[in-house]
Amino acid sequence: MNSNIDSVQLRELHFELLYPAARIQARVEAIGQALSQSHAGKNPIFLSILSGAFVFASDLIRCYQGDCEVSFVKLSSYSGTASSGAVQTVFGLGQNLSERHVVVVEDIVDTGRTLHYFRGLLEEQQPASITVVTLLRKPDALEFPVPLDHIGFDISNLFVVGYGLDYDGLGRNLPGIYQLKEQL
Ligand code: IMP
Repeated sequence: MNSNIDSVQLRELHFELLYPAARIQARVEAIGQALSQSHAGKNPIFLSILSGAFVFASDLIRCYQGDCEVSFVKLSSYSGTASSGAVQTVFGLGQNLSERHVVVVEDIVDTGRTLHYFRGLLEEQQPASITVVTLLRKPDALEFPVPLDHIGFDISNLFVVGYGLDYDGLGRNLPGIYQLKEQL
């Protein structure tokens, strides 16, 4: 990785800063506060979709005030900078979610395929409620209907890295979010 605050190179691609860490943290705190109110006394279970959402989820649960549980599901549909078009469950839903208040934590909604598929799996378990939180959404890329309760930021259709999101395995450790520089 070759990086400074404003730009980073990952393999052959150049990215520029979109959201610095402080801006992200302010949004995460606001969403955490809203969930603390809406889910007070419900002992929600936060289901973080791996790998990309692990950083967001770890910050979000620390902004949640009250009892909660945390679990992880691994789904994938991306290869490089383009969706592969198929969602594969790599490992998943170990526990019974029936009658539980579930908060799904996603890093980014692109086509919506991943969340659309996952919501179907979740609904089979008949939870008491499903609340969906995504840090990022690309409205111009959306192809599948996905109800979202909290969105950190709406972004353009450019590939992004950082704060858990990767390009070819790299960039997850960047504290800010960086977007692909458009070729001139
Ligand atoms: P979707 O199924 O097309 O909505 O894609 C969702 C998944 O693709 C996310 O959970 C990410 O893992 C990955 N993804 C989509 N867009 C990006 C991006 O811009 N950067 C990194 N990963 C992305």
